[in-house]
This record gives sequence, structure tokens and C-alpha cells, in this order.
Amino acid sequence: MNMLVDNYNRTFPYLRLSITEVCNFSCSYCLPNGYQKDHEKSFLRQDEIMRLVNAFVELGVWKIRITGGEPTIRKDFTEIAKMIGEKSEITKLAFTTNGYKLREKAAEWRDAGLNAINISIDSMNAKKFHDITGHDRMQEVREGIEKALEVGFEDVKINVVLLKGVNDDELDAYLEYVKDTPVSVRYIELMQTGDNLTYFNKYHQSADYVKDQLIDRGWVENIRQIGAGPAVNFTHPDYKGSIGLIAPYSKDFCTGCNRLRITSTGDLRLCLFGNVGIPLRHMLQSDDQKDDLKAAISKQLDYKASSHFLQDGNTGIMTNLSSTGG
Ligand code: 5AD
Ligand code: SF4
Repeated sequence: MNMLVDNYNRTFPYLRLSITEVCNFSCSYCLPNGYQKDHEKSFLRQDEIMRLVNAFVELGVWKIRITGGEPTIRKDFTEIAKMIGEKSEITKLAFTTNGYKLREKAAEWRDAGLNAINISIDSMNAKKFHDITGHDRMQEVREGIEKALEVGFEDVKINVVLLKGVNDDELDAYLEYVKDTPVSVRYIELMQTGDNLTYFNKYHQSADYVKDQLIDRGWVENIRQIGAGPAVNFTHPDYKGSIGLIAPYSKDFCTGCNRLRITSTGDLRLCLFGNVGIPLRHMLQSDDQKDDLKAAISKQLDYKASSHFLQDGNTGIMTNLSSTGG
């Protein structure tokens, strides 16, 4: 089996595929004024998506995450999931969502072949959730998560962007939640983007702040699994769920990198923050371009750097995360 490998011996079995930039939420750290449509953008079509997926499968990818923006905004989201899910090589088919339609659609999406899901809940307090996202929907999203568990999603993760003075006092509420709910709550350290420098300086809180509290409460850091990605996971014998920390500013964050990204308009991105990437869309127009496409992807891996150098204030070209999906 073919496998994509870079110059640092990292392999890339995992593709994050953005299918739209559009989002209906206006999270304060991402799209504080909501999604702004400047000019009509055309996002990848189904046939283009499948040509990409076919090429990546032949390059050894077995996990795909569909992201956005908010991917479920697309009317053909279920259809796209189904098409990818029909490929037997893709054993893990995940998506990231703000959860706004989850309660109604969880069963349909599970049936389509999706088996893993990341949902944002940036606060367990309904009012704060509303303040952060612009939507008074915490309860609804939490019911959506219940539904996702009920219909058999195997891997349910809750994303929490850690914000100083906003939600960094809520660890106990999340712990209470994971006591009986078999989900993984993942604290994501706020990342600096081209758009949010002032915001970043005001609200950035280190993941160590949560880590210290976890250790105080008897939580234990799990040994990192090979190929597990950049989250550090903590468990506790009395709790069904777990807590993960995603700390992009930590020293070893990039050594665990196992993913490549495709933007909603078909650019390959080697790093969420990197400014290295190439357009692939012109190679997605007919099936007989597959070999060229595969060669172009493999060649790009030679340019994948060892780290994002965020520590140096480098934000790459990313203005916010809605185009490449967290
Ligand atoms: N820093 C950290 N996480 C972010 N996300 C979006 N913008 C940022 C940022 N600046 C995350 C959201 C969501 C996913 C889509 O990306 O929490 O989980
Ligand atoms: Fe939308 Fe996700 Fe950005 Fe929030 S973080 S505005 S849900 S894309």
C-alpha cells in the first residue's frame, strides 16, 4: 500500500476536506461578524470531491474529515458523505459541525456512513454559549449530541476553544458532563490568525492552565498512541468520557502531525498555518488526470516543514479558520 511520507518521516493517512466556507454561526474567535460573502465563490463540486478522494485513497488515506465553514450548510452534505462512505478504504469518516442541525439529522448522517463527529460547545452555560456563537442554541446542540450517541456514532468529540476570562472557569462543568457521557471533550488553545490579533492577545489562555487543574483532580495523561494526532488525552477511572488538550503552541505539537488539508476551493494545504500549498482544482476535471494529481500531491510533501513556527508570531496566510476548517 502506498503511503504519503514527508521528509520528517511523518505519514499522512488523514485528510481534512473543507466543502464550504459558509457558516451560519458567528463565533467570536472565528467569524465575529458572521460569514461575509464578498464575491460568489464556487466550492468543490461532487465530481471534483470524488476525484480528490479517489486519488488520496490510492495514496493511502483511510480517514477523511469533512469540514467547513459549517459543512452541513451544503444541501448535498448527506450525498457527499454517502459517496465518500461508499469507498471501503475509508474506514473512518468524520465531520466537524457546530451542531445546529444535529438533533434532526443525526440518524440520516449515521446512515450515510459517517461514523465520527466533532461538535463545538464553547460553554456549558447557555448565556455564554449565546454570547460566543451568536446563537442561543446550547440546549439544542446538547440534545443533538445525545442523539448522535443514540444512533451509534462511535467517536464523539466536543471542541471547546479555551478563552481567558470567558470559559476557562468551566472545567468542573465539563467534567460533570463526561462523568456519564462517553465523549471526549477537547480544549483547543486559541490560535492566532490574520484576523484576530487583538482578540488573541486578550483571550489566549494556555492549555497548561487546564492541565494543572486536571492533574490536581486526579486525571492521568495517557501514553500517546502512534498516529494519534496532536491531542494529549487525560482519563480518570470514575469518568466515562475523557478530556483532551490541543496546544498548538507547545513544543512537540507538530511532531504528531498526520493530516493534510484541502480548502473548499480545492487548494492543498500542508499545514493549517503554512503558506505552502497548491491549487489542485485544475487537476480534478476529468478522471484521466488522476496520475498527475497523485504525483502533484506526493511532490508537495517534500515541501512540508517540520513545524508551523507559530511561536514566532507567524500566522501563515490564514485569515480565519472558516476556509480550512479548524
Ligand atoms: N483558534 C482555535 N480554534 C479555532 N476554531 C476556529 N477558529 C479557531 C481559533 N482561532 C475551531 C473551532 C471549531 C473548529 C471548526 O475550529 O472551535 O472546533
Ligand atoms: Fe462557524 Fe465553526 Fe467558525 Fe464558529 S468556529 S464561526 S461554527 S466555522
